[in-house]
Amino acid sequence: MKMNFSIEEAVKKRYSVRNYLEQPIEEEIKAAVESFIASLSNPFGKKVNFHYLDPSGMENQQKLGTYGVIKGAKQYIGTTIKLEPLALEALGYEMEVLILYLANKGIGTCWLGGTFNRKAFANAMKVGEELFPIITPYGYPAEKKHLKERAMRKMINADQRKDWKELFFDTDFQTPLTKEAAGDLAFSLEMVRLGPSASNKQPWRILRKDNRWHFYEYKEPGYSKSFPYDIQRVDMGIAAAHFELAVKELGIDGEFDTASKPEVELPKHMEYCFSWIQA
Ligand SMILES: Cc1cc2nc3c(=O)[nH]c(=O)nc-3n(C[C@H](O)[C@H](O)[C@H](O)COP(=O)(O)O)c2cc1C
Repeated sequence: MKMNFSIEEAVKKRYSVRNYLEQPIEEEIKAAVESFIASLSNPFGKKVNFHYLDPSGMENQQKLGTYGVIKGAKQYIGTTIKLEPLALEALGYEMEVLILYLANKGIGTCWLGGTFNRKAFANAMKVGEELFPIITPYGYPAEKKHLKERAMRKMINADQRKDWKELFFDTDFQTPLTKEAAGDLAFSLEMVRLGPSASNKQPWRILRKDNRWHFYEYKEPGYSKSFPYDIQRVDMGIAAAHFELAVKELGIDGEFDTASKPEVELPKHMEYCFSWIQA
């Protein structure tokens, strides 16, 4: 997994592209993308499987729908996992690293966890018994957003992100962490804050305690009801990817770990996920 681009530029360039040009991805770029995917790994030690759907595989796939959300896309990448602890986070991590790599190359993507015909895509991608939570189209973005896309973005405030004081905390959940107090790690937190999340709910909360960084999920009541798994765990994996790519770029060493859950009073609906510990 070689990241030879600026994380900040890629994070700022990425947005959910729902309208694509007809222009296919060149064969040599496709080959580079596939070899990048083969090099992916994650800090949670769970296997994430990638599946491809190319224009030829999309012929005669009448039912291959995204409910009008995605237009013009000819190629998709799907991911499958075995449902076990930290597998959704591993998926979020690897897929987001891929999405940032593609954004850097000017290739658009859109996380899809809800608005796609899961059965039809599973058939077309020849997915077996594994859990199949996420796909993304990929291709060159059209210049303008389509009507439904614009309405959708407006409805979920897709251009907004929560303030620091709602997301990052110092020692307990009553005390917001300021940028000054975050020191060198402020950049990593800012990269987390700008990330994508399902319905833009931004469930990531980070608590710094005894110089360790603890990641929590603010589990939106009722939100994952329509899925047989907690889709916001994928968002937590995305947060881990943004955080880790940023610290690596700064040259700060550290590791994720799930055995460092701190003693702290938790607000309602907050669940501990994992910690990052500086070396
Ligand atoms: C796990 C996950 C699932 C998502 N599922 C969908 C989806 O089913 N349909 C859709 O149109 N967008 C989906 N999105 C995209 C989000 O709505 C989008 O990331 C968010 O509104 C922020 O907008 P931006 O990506 O343009 O910054 C999903 C995003 C994530 C991270």
